[in-house]
Amino acid sequence: MRFHGYVLNRRYLLTKIVQGFSLTGALFLFYPFVKSWIPGLSQAHTLEVDLSDLSLGDVKQVPWLGRRVMITIRTPAEVKALIEKTDSLKDPDSIRSSQPEFARNMHRSQRSDVFVAYGNCTHFGCIVGVNSSDAHARFSCPCHQSEFDAAGRVFADAAAPLNLEIPDYQFLSRNTLLLTSSG
Ligand code: FES
Repeated sequence: MRFHGYVLNRRYLLTKIVQGFSLTGALFLFYPFVKSWIPGLSQAHTLEVDLSDLSLGDVKQVPWLGRRVMITIRTPAEVKALIEKTDSLKDPDSIRSSQPEFARNMHRSQRSDVFVAYGNCTHFGCIVGVNSSDAHARFSCPCHQSEFDAAGRVFADAAAPLNLEIPDYQFLSRNTLLLTSSG
C-alpha cells in the first residue's frame, strides 16, 4: 500500500511539473500578443534631447537603444543644397530608404533646419563621420567612403545602398526633441 501510494504521489508530482512547464511555455508564446493588446504593457521608450546648446552647423550625437543618433542644425546653405543637388543621389526621394512618414520629404525631417538620423552607414553599419566644411557631402563613412548629403541621402557612386535611417521623433518645444520608439 505504501508502495502504491508512493507511485501515485510520484505520478501526481510529475503531472504537476509537466503542467507547470506547459503553462510557462504558453506564457512565453503568447506574451507578445497579450502585450500588444493591453496598452499599459506595451512599453514606449523615449529620450529627451536638449538642443539649446547647438548652433548652426553643430552636430550632437546621443546613444539611443544601442545605436547612435545624430542631430544637426542645418545651415541655410545646406537646406538650399538639398533642393538643388538631387541628380547625383541614389534615392533622392527616399522611396526605398527607411524613415517615418513625416520625414518622407526633401529634407527628410520634420523641421527643415533640424536633421535627425541614425549614425550607422547603410552598407555594413559603420559609424559615419561628419564633414564640417562640406554642405553637400555632410556625412562620410570611414569604412568604404560612402558619402551622404545633409539629409542623409547617399550619393549614387557610394557602396551604401540606401539613405541613412531616420528614427521616430517629435518636438516637445523649439529646443527639446523627443526620440520615440514603442516595443
Ligand atoms: S560600411 Fe559604410 S561604406 Fe561600407
